[in-house]
Amino acid sequence: MEKDLKQLKKDAENKIAAAESVSQLEQIDQEFFGRKDGKLNLILKQLKDLSAEEKKSLGQEANDVKLELVDLIAKKKSVLAEKEIDAKIKKEVVDLTLPGETIATGTLHPASQVQYELEDIFKSLGFMVLDGPELESDYFNFEALNMPEHHPARDMQDTFYVKTKEGEPKQVLRTQTSPVQIRAMLKYGAPLRAVVPGRVFRFEELDASHENTFSQLEGIMIEENLSITNLIAVMKTLLKGVFKREVKVRLRPGFFPFVEPGFELDINCLICGGRGCKVCKQSGWVELLPCGMIHPNVLRAGGIDPDKFSGFAFGLGMTRLVMMRYGIDDIRLLNGGDLKFLKQF
Ligand code: DAH
Repeated sequence: MEKDLKQLKKDAENKIAAAESVSQLEQIDQEFFGRKDGKLNLILKQLKDLSAEEKKSLGQEANDVKLELVDLIAKKKSVLAEKEIDAKIKKEVVDLTLPGETIATGTLHPASQVQYELEDIFKSLGFMVLDGPELESDYFNFEALNMPEHHPARDMQDTFYVKTKEGEPKQVLRTQTSPVQIRAMLKYGAPLRAVVPGRVFRFEELDASHENTFSQLEGIMIEENLSITNLIAVMKTLLKGVFKREVKVRLRPGFFPFVEPGFELDINCLICGGRGCKVCKQSGWVELLPCGMIHPNVLRAGGIDPDKFSGFAFGLGMTRLVMMRYGIDDIRLLNGGDLKFLKQF
């Protein structure tokens, strides 16, 4: 039996030395020390036929051999395990130069870009940037702006009338940003400098230059002794800021019930350079900036004394300006939600 033990030790040592992987070592462990038919147990079974003396000394020896071999396996295992992990890491190396998954980020709509630019220009001139409701009372949208119920000027701004209960104020989707003129006067009084960018709505037949939803930027300035000269100076500053170059303009008389005198400021069509196209309806000019001196009735409706203060107002066609700026020849593209179109800006 002692011989068997020595042979087992030798065999095991050779096998451990030759093992090349952790799993081979585990097999060796099973082969020699497995509970059921491990080689050591098979040898130990013979103990029962021996004397107590022999049992003790051989049992001790077997135990020593086992401890020695188990220790040998453990040491070799830790060396091999480390090698295996190293090899695995090398194989699984992460290539940091691979491009990652791109996350789609949006961009500002061209109309927003122009709006924010305009806001900056006016803020630098000391104007507040105000907001107003899109569902507006008939009173603020028309009446307070010198357009009483049967005034023919209302015909040009047909809109979406909203049903209201008997006795409640009539409401409309605002046709212009001008009602915020009155709201601003009532809230802040004079002197006053404010611009109001926002959406407006009209009942329109859609075509390349007409939409039922578009944007304007209203402006008012009210001070003592304000004149048309001031109006023209501010309009010129505005256009230069927007187009970053001199743009050909023309001023002609225009009628708007809430200004007196009123003007139409047209710019040379930037789509066709003045030759004529579908945006400028072949005229070479685009109406961009109606303006005028605020009518005394409107100042009164805003609680401001027209004998003391005067003011000018303008209503910039912001959507049109966006089209001119980016050479967009169909207004319907702006609200169309076509990402292929919008991503260009
Ligand atoms: N609100 C007018 C429109 O939508 C535009 C306008 C004209 C505004 C003259 C003004 C102005 O402030 O002075 O047709």
